[in-house]
Amino acid sequence: KILQPTTIIIFGATGDLAKRKLFPAFYNLYIDGRMPERFNIVALGRAENTDEKFRDYIKENLNEFSRKDVTSEDWKGFESHLTYFQHQLDEQQSYQDLSQKLQTFDIDYGTRANRLFYLSIAPNFIETISNHIKNTFLASDASKDRIIIEKPFGHSKASAIELNTLLSQTFQEEQIYRIDHYLGKETVQNILTFRFGNSIFEPLWNQKYIESIQITVAEEVGVETRGAFYEQTGALKDMVQNHLLQILCMVAMEPPASLESGEIRDRKVDVLKSIRRITPDKVSHYAVRGQYGPGMINGTEVKGYRQENGIAEDSNTETFVAMKFYLDNERWQNVPFYVRTGKKMEKKHSYITIQFRPLPTSTFSNSPFELSANRLIINIQPSMDIRLQFMSKKPGLSLELKPVEMVFNDFACQEDSPEAYETLLLEALLGDLTLFMRSDQVEEAWDVVKTIQEYWENNKELSFPNYQAGSWGPEGSDALVKRQGHKWV
Ligand code: BG6
Repeated sequence: KILQPTTIIIFGATGDLAKRKLFPAFYNLYIDGRMPERFNIVALGRAENTDEKFRDYIKENLNEFSRKDVTSEDWKGFESHLTYFQHQLDEQQSYQDLSQKLQTFDIDYGTRANRLFYLSIAPNFIETISNHIKNTFLASDASKDRIIIEKPFGHSKASAIELNTLLSQTFQEEQIYRIDHYLGKETVQNILTFRFGNSIFEPLWNQKYIESIQITVAEEVGVETRGAFYEQTGALKDMVQNHLLQILCMVAMEPPASLESGEIRDRKVDVLKSIRRITPDKVSHYAVRGQYGPGMINGTEVKGYRQENGIAEDSNTETFVAMKFYLDNERWQNVPFYVRTGKKMEKKHSYITIQFRPLPTSTFSNSPFELSANRLIINIQPSMDIRLQFMSKKPGLSLELKPVEMVFNDFACQEDSPEAYETLLLEALLGDLTLFMRSDQVEEAWDVVKTIQEYWENNKELSFPNYQAGSWGPEGSDALVKRQGHKWV
């Protein structure tokens, strides 16, 4: 796939995401020679501003957020591609003016360029923007024009369906890039390579040899400045419905017939469909919610969730979720998939643990040594490595056993590895949908959490806050895995 001349139009270009992630990602792609030869970024904002002032603002932020240094030569090259455009989201005239502006770029390029619209705005504006884009024919070339939509994609299954229907009035499915930034992470992408690029793991990758699987996404940060948003969201909708289920799909999917995006997305939908749905009376058996109270992180006292800005004193919003899933398919019958995620945990650590079954019988059964079952750990962040744990002979004259670890840490050595947004933006520029959500994936993922979501919305949790900031979550989380003789590792 080759990069075509492209105009990138960012709605919400003065917002937080644009500042921290989008502009740094475009800048780094530019330095790496990965941007199209001819491109322009049109930054839309409500306030009056000049190109010069906007460029200064971006430069300042790049100094803080860019992975690569901002040298004056590189900056000079990059800034000439940046244009500020004053724009009112709800005024048709503003879109007509934008259309004119885009045409002037096309004249410069000498061709009708591709258009990449990035909606970095609150979800309630999607309808307005999408309708105006339709009415002013801004994205009328389905083979060239694309739209990127940030999460959250809806807030329930019904709202996701509604949003998909709405978008389909302006865009064809192939034009819609629904972002889940976890899919852009190097270590998450490597799951596919690891599984399907090797012959030794895949034969073991099933219920016959694997006892359980754990996925942990622990965060040290709290809700920061996003209190109002988070009160309406909570960990189930913010993390489980998207990031955790996407990781689960990568771990559990069947081998795709090819790397073609439709194939990979089909296999992921198969996983989501196979996840066993539960009834409301089973919710507390399969899912545990938590909310942090005051505690200590890295020796510093931190507030509880209910004391943070913009949070209700009696908030019922969960900041932690632990769940158990079963997949009703041949490969994974009866293998529990445990997932957990939380804010203000002891430390930032995202990883996957594949726990293999213990030996049925062993040559060493009658020896005094305890055998640990094999385990494979895929560290997603901040450490980025893969560890295989197995038993080995202790070096020495006697026959003694000890558990050891084989570590692959190529990614950790790669200080310069691209950020998730760089990977995803490049894919969108190239027109590859593989790493983005298709409409049915998003709807199916909402369906997976639907019963729990409704049950939690309708039943207040009386034990909140039920874990201390700086811990690994509420007691119920350990109890959930212990019931089957397991523990979080
Ligand atoms: C976002 C969530 O999607 O992912 C945030 O809205 C969360 O609440 C973030 O903190 C985590 O992303 P990362 O890349 O820092 O693990």
